[in-house]
Amino acid sequence: MVELNKFYIGESVKWMRDNLPDQFIDLTITSPPYDNLRTYKGFEFDYEAMLKELYRVTKDGGVVVWVVNDATVKGSETGTSFKQALCAKKIGFNLHDTQIYYKNNPIPTAGKRYHQHFEYMFVFSKNSPNTFNPIMEDCKYQGVANMKNRGQEGKLEYVKIKRTKTKKIGNVFKYSIGGGITTNDTIAYNHPAIFPDKLVEDQLRTWSNEGDIVFDPMCGSGTTCKMAWLNNRNFIGVDISEEYINNICIPRLQEYGW
Ligand SMILES: C[S@@+](CC[C@H](N)C(=O)[O-])C[C@H]1O[C@@H](n2cnc3c(N)ncnc32)[C@H](O)[C@@H]1O
Repeated sequence: MVELNKFYIGESVKWMRDNLPDQFIDLTITSPPYDNLRTYKGFEFDYEAMLKELYRVTKDGGVVVWVVNDATVKGSETGTSFKQALCAKKIGFNLHDTQIYYKNNPIPTAGKRYHQHFEYMFVFSKNSPNTFNPIMEDCKYQGVANMKNRGQEGKLEYVKIKRTKTKKIGNVFKYSIGGGITTNDTIAYNHPAIFPDKLVEDQLRTWSNEGDIVFDPMCGSGTTCKMAWLNNRNFIGVDISEEYINNICIPRLQEYGW
């Protein structure tokens, strides 16, 4: 049986086949290599095989948050993000929500393109999610009792809204990024593509509860594992790069009493 709260070095598709039973993971928060933007020392990436294994190891009602963007090749975005989302659907996941990771301060884009402010966060679920702890914000129009609403199937319907002071936030998540902002952990910047700590924490709190098993099969600098550890979830982190695991993830987590 695999040990929880540990990092493992390996190619994740094979690693999952060898180590994880069916229906084991509550929540995965991960990000694959973006086309050929970063070669990660030449490792190849088979997203279909990865998504199939993730489907197998995810519990019924479990969720996979898949953060991705396209490269631009010969003037055209590759469309890989959409291909991956449709592939996940074909495998059996629900495309539960297409969320946007909006960067307040992206690297400026040259040429005939607007500045590239966002990436996709596809939320795949194995049937309906078991856990949804929505992040709330103040409700400006509290007191409106009868209003139009998009129902679960997207149809417009009139519903009675309870008079509340707060409401669910929308599905565009805005973060500032950069040195000292994405994370306070200096060591993490030795990896070329780190998640903001806050992005992971928001997803983690939404789709899991304390004690759940949180997985990152391409854990890079270990952000998902760090935030799971700090939020009393169990984690499993796998990366193909020995250097990232030994020189970033492990010393990074040790700073937090792991
Ligand atoms: C976009 S980065 C993830 C960064 C991570 N979210 C973070 O916050 O640091 C993708 C990672 O996937 C790893 N990787 C690529 N292919 C892999 C595979 N087949 N199995 C395991 N890890 C892989 C790379 O080494 C890289 O660290």
